[in-house]
Amino acid sequence: MNILEVIEKKKIGQELSKEEIEYFVKGYTNEEITDYQAAALIMAICINGMTQDEIVSLTIAMANSGDILDLSEISDHIVDKHSTGGVGDKVTLILLPVIASFGIPVGKMSGRGLGITGGTIDKLESIPGYKTNISIDEFKRNIKEVGISLISQTLNLAPADKKIYALRDTISCTNSMPLIASSIMSKKIAAGANAIVLDVTCGKGAFMQEKDSAKKLAKLMSLIGKLAKRETVCVLTNMDEPLGKAVGNSLEVIEAVDALNGKIEKDVEEVVVTLASQMMKLSGKYPNVIDNKKLVSESLRNGKAFEKFKELVKRQGGDVTYIENTNKFEKAPIIMPVLSEKEGFVEELDAGKVGKAGVLLGIGRINKEDSIDSKVGLIFEKKIGDNVKKDEVLAYVHASSKEKAIECVENIRNAYRIGNKKIVKKNIIEIM
Ligand code: URA
Repeated sequence: MNILEVIEKKKIGQELSKEEIEYFVKGYTNEEITDYQAAALIMAICINGMTQDEIVSLTIAMANSGDILDLSEISDHIVDKHSTGGVGDKVTLILLPVIASFGIPVGKMSGRGLGITGGTIDKLESIPGYKTNISIDEFKRNIKEVGISLISQTLNLAPADKKIYALRDTISCTNSMPLIASSIMSKKIAAGANAIVLDVTCGKGAFMQEKDSAKKLAKLMSLIGKLAKRETVCVLTNMDEPLGKAVGNSLEVIEAVDALNGKIEKDVEEVVVTLASQMMKLSGKYPNVIDNKKLVSESLRNGKAFEKFKELVKRQGGDVTYIENTNKFEKAPIIMPVLSEKEGFVEELDAGKVGKAGVLLGIGRINKEDSIDSKVGLIFEKKIGDNVKKDEVLAYVHASSKEKAIECVENIRNAYRIGNKKIVKKNIIEIM
């Protein structure tokens, strides 16, 4: 077998065998297959798709490309969470401390930004000192002793996904159903959870823009979960507009800290409460979803989830004084308002356009090696359904230079549509 034959087969739309998929995953992980050969195959997969059997083989091969964590010494009911990606999605930063505040152990391997979507690891790294790349032993110790750990994919867990994920981001292959399903489920299987809650985003700022394709992705990941003996619940959530007020790495950490202190945006709260209540149910200790929702709202207001977040930051080397006083986060040098050109209601705030504007501003990467600017981002004052007057502030752009700010103000103005209709939003679309 050689890689050229495998690329050729997928290029002409044929089905790859389990052996061919394993050969590719092993070869790319060991660096026997080059980036450009892998890029060719990934592009062919992106264009021609994969059968269900191919996707399952790819997921299992990626999960087996490194260690499979055994967390049974901590609990036999470890619950994990993952999102298919969004703009302004700071849910993990709020949700995990909430779950840990109920004594349910959580350990999660998160990603960096992918395409226009943000990454929890980039956000956490805006906290001075926070270490995302700790050893497996430390990861386990933190879950055991503090009840929570949040790390990057630096351990030997699904290393094939780490390489393929970074490659996809820079060759425009992010929005492929087989690649998303295998990426997420390989990480979840390798990280050792017994049950998984998946936030499957749907809309202009998500990889799946239509409800039908989001449902298909959810069904696919549930099937992989079942085959891998992981109970899996999918929650379809709306990603037509950015989630919450902030988009940008340190700005989202600040919003998450506010949320953990009870100052939480309605759309963020709805997603956090829904996902948390399902995770609590899967933990085996909290069977009633309605009761769980009330408990979660309480945890966001009684300071318990905030205390857990502080413990997490401290344990992983972060400077907790930034969490106690978020004014310490360095601000971008230029803050420029986006003003409304007319009066009316916000009918649209296109999360896809916001995500693209954010990447240009420096929130995300265009090349694999690009560094990101943790200070830059956007704060939205007006969202879908809000009334707005002429010259009122729609949003603020936090930029590294005046030129970037001016360019971004224009891009954000184009992301808004102001009209006469008051739109009623729906954040949770469906639980599957
Ligand atoms: N999150 C992942 O981990 N992988 C994807 O492909 C998309 C979102």
